[in-house]
Amino acid sequence: MGSMSLYDSVVRPLAFMFDPEKVHEWVMAMLERGFFRAPAFTDPKVEQTLFGVKFLNPIGLAAGFDKNARALDYWDRLGFGFVEAGTITYHPQPGNPKPRLFRLPADKALVNRMGFNNDGARAVATRLAMAKPKVPIGVNLGKSKITELSDAAKDYRESFRLLHLNGDYFVVNVSSPNTPGLRTLQEKGPLLEIIAAIREVEADKPLFVKVAPDLEMPALDDVIAVAHEAHLAGLIATNTTIRREGLSADPGLEGGLSGAPLLAKSNQFLSHLYRSCDRSTILMGVGGIMTGADVYEKMRLGAHLCQIYTGWIYGGPYMIPAAVQQVASLMSRDGFQTLADLRGSAHR
Ligand SMILES: Cc1cc2nc3c(=O)[nH]c(=O)nc-3n(C[C@H](O)[C@H](O)[C@H](O)COP(=O)(O)O)c2cc1C
Repeated sequence: MGSMSLYDSVVRPLAFMFDPEKVHEWVMAMLERGFFRAPAFTDPKVEQTLFGVKFLNPIGLAAGFDKNARALDYWDRLGFGFVEAGTITYHPQPGNPKPRLFRLPADKALVNRMGFNNDGARAVATRLAMAKPKVPIGVNLGKSKITELSDAAKDYRESFRLLHLNGDYFVVNVSSPNTPGLRTLQEKGPLLEIIAAIREVEADKPLFVKVAPDLEMPALDDVIAVAHEAHLAGLIATNTTIRREGLSADPGLEGGLSGAPLLAKSNQFLSHLYRSCDRSTILMGVGGIMTGADVYEKMRLGAHLCQIYTGWIYGGPYMIPAAVQQVASLMSRDGFQTLADLRGSAHR
């Protein structure tokens, strides 16, 4: 990349002078009014159809940014190939006390302990039904804080009942570190129970499970077994980590770490999933993407689709089209005609 962009030199330094969650609210308020537009980059090389859904490019917005599905009609203007709304819980809930979102600029990272603040499935369902998005929409579901872990399956099912008519795919999020006990639902028994409960409502929607990068390998293998047994559409790797490896200094903040320090771990998980899963299992790679080269690497490791959150905060509004363009040019350099040719090539 050449000289510093206006975003790097002015906009980000200015935005970073304010409270991160306030800036997030301002950005969302502008987004839902259609305020931003980045010149699009399109190329047939980066298009694909997966589980019957057409993706114009493989880079999506990760869950947690548009939790309440407020700006679904506008994300295409920033170049995103798809968007995952949520996490949405059955009951509306305020999340954890503020402050709960922290920047670690020296490490290009964030720590958050938002705790699934969201308007609840009923309110979000109304918004989803009215939206006219130009890109595929995923809907990420979590457990309400007030619901006992033993009733988790019902909680997910009732959210899905309200939300299932709109959304191209659905995600069972059992990997946030910020809802007590949530990650124990990654165990085989509870996870199968949640999936079965969701399918009582409708069995045909593409269903994904999003995993934590802090799972031990045998536990990850259990999730893979569930994916096969329950015929999931795929897996999403990974959520944020409670570990603090790769930081220049431990900030001593409780919560999930995201951004550059997460890249190696989430890539290791993605690689493991690619090696262990049936080729029909769709893999979404998320964690630590900062550039198009990082997206390219995740696709080489086996991702069908990628998602980004933290890197977009650091990279700015022109980042996604630039990253898609970089993926396309790296494909040309390496002689890959399609994303299917590229996918998993690191393992061949
Ligand atoms: C502020 C913040 C809120 C998040 N909220 C959610 C969420 O509600 N549900 C979820 O599945 N992941 C959530 N995530 C995790 C991201 O979707 C993603 O998995 C993680 O940040 C790693 O990607 P990144 O390194 O590109 O940020 C959140 C991340 C951040 C930084």
